[in-house]
Amino acid sequence: MINKNLCINTAKKGATIRKEIYGHFSEHLGRCIYGGIYVGEDSDIPNTRGLRNDVLKALKDMAIPVLRWPGGCFADEYHWRNGIGPKNERVTMINTNWGGVTEDNSFGTHEFMDLCDLIGCEPYISGNVGSGTVREMSEWIEYITSGNISPMTDLRKKNGREEPWHLKYLGIGNENWGCGGFMTPEYYANQYRQFQQFCKDYGDNKLYKIACGPNGGDTAWTEKLMSMINPMIAGAISLHFYTIPTGDWNNKGNATGFSEELYHSTIRETRRISPIIESHLAVMDRYDPDHKIGLCVDEWGCWYNVEEGTNPGFLYQQNTMRDAIVASVNLNIFNNRADRIVMANIAQVVNVLQSVILTEGPKMLKTPTYYVFSMYKEHQGSTLVESLLSDSTFDHEGIAYPDLSVSSSMKEDGTLFVTLSNANLKESYKINTLIDASYGKADARILTGSMNDHNTFENPDAVADASYDGVTLQGDRAEITLPPCSVVTVTFRK
Ligand code: AHR
Repeated sequence: MINKNLCINTAKKGATIRKEIYGHFSEHLGRCIYGGIYVGEDSDIPNTRGLRNDVLKALKDMAIPVLRWPGGCFADEYHWRNGIGPKNERVTMINTNWGGVTEDNSFGTHEFMDLCDLIGCEPYISGNVGSGTVREMSEWIEYITSGNISPMTDLRKKNGREEPWHLKYLGIGNENWGCGGFMTPEYYANQYRQFQQFCKDYGDNKLYKIACGPNGGDTAWTEKLMSMINPMIAGAISLHFYTIPTGDWNNKGNATGFSEELYHSTIRETRRISPIIESHLAVMDRYDPDHKIGLCVDEWGCWYNVEEGTNPGFLYQQNTMRDAIVASVNLNIFNNRADRIVMANIAQVVNVLQSVILTEGPKMLKTPTYYVFSMYKEHQGSTLVESLLSDSTFDHEGIAYPDLSVSSSMKEDGTLFVTLSNANLKESYKINTLIDASYGKADARILTGSMNDHNTFENPDAVADASYDGVTLQGDRAEITLPPCSVVTVTFRK
């Protein structure tokens, strides 16, 4: 057992942790939408207007705050008019990015907005810059949000929706440095300025526009973009960062059955997001010293080789305790930067990359990553509290990184919520902390297992969170035991 100290400085409060940091991403990719979320009204799988009831419930229980759609790379080839109106009249297309399959457009704007209504989350729509037009995006916003009398609102009403929807988050393009058009930053920034100008605020609806930001550590993109936009026209810029255990896109490593070495390189690699975030914030500071433009990490998570025997274009992967540690580390990093990070969206919600849910026909399971999001949900909307851990850098046979990760927040009634993880596979930690003696009660939950542990359709509850008695509280002293490969949450109540 290794002893470490944790200083929870309740006098040093930070920003509100926006609920949107716990956001998700749904793309027309593989079995994310079709089969994973949407099965159609005629399916034998229990559904509400075609949306799977089991998935709706799981997402609601997890308190999903915001959902991004329709892509990803798919967004820049999506033409929204093909996804409205009677289903048998909808025009099909080839999903050129993801497996070359035929997209029948049976899930479109109405279905997506219905999904968000049913799970109680904010919609976040990514508009098409790469192969779309200014007019197309402008009319989509009018179709969704306008209550005026106009051809677009008439069309929406004809398609069964009388009232406009509320839409706050609008992405102007996706990865326009890559699949979204291979643009230079200067060209994209000019496109951004033009496209955003024609996406209007109708009635009470106020758009929060998100510009396509950098890929990983590309600060040159951030620099050029920030020099050409301002807070009048952009709420935030995005950042995409994927964790690839090997660092090699051609052989990323498998989602299960991996070695300890790959486990450690995954955790060390995922931790790189923190200096990358700092490098972009430093650039943003120079152009926006008042911090009016936020950072939106709207794609993050682990990306492995696809599961054997599955379509390589569908990006289907399993999810283990390693992913749970990755989720915990990232969410703690985002919480601790709540002053600048306005949203984050893990990729992707169902059946693709680091998903919280996997489905197979009528079966559904929650992944270890699901349980981390669920365990952390109390942070949503709470106030960040400074929490500092003594250094836990550990040399894992040549791969050194800090084993421990933490963030803390406080509710208005003083309830203190602390989330921790221990990435070490062999060593337990005892965390000693001093807290206000008025906290008389500590409830804890734990998610733990071996690094390769995961849920399968045969054994869907192999990994799940449980209540935990490894926390002791005596006066102003608390001791939290973190077993190897574990995520622990502690709620201190007065
Ligand atoms: O999440 C899969 C893909 O990764 C997304 O479509 C794209 O934006 C990114 O490159």
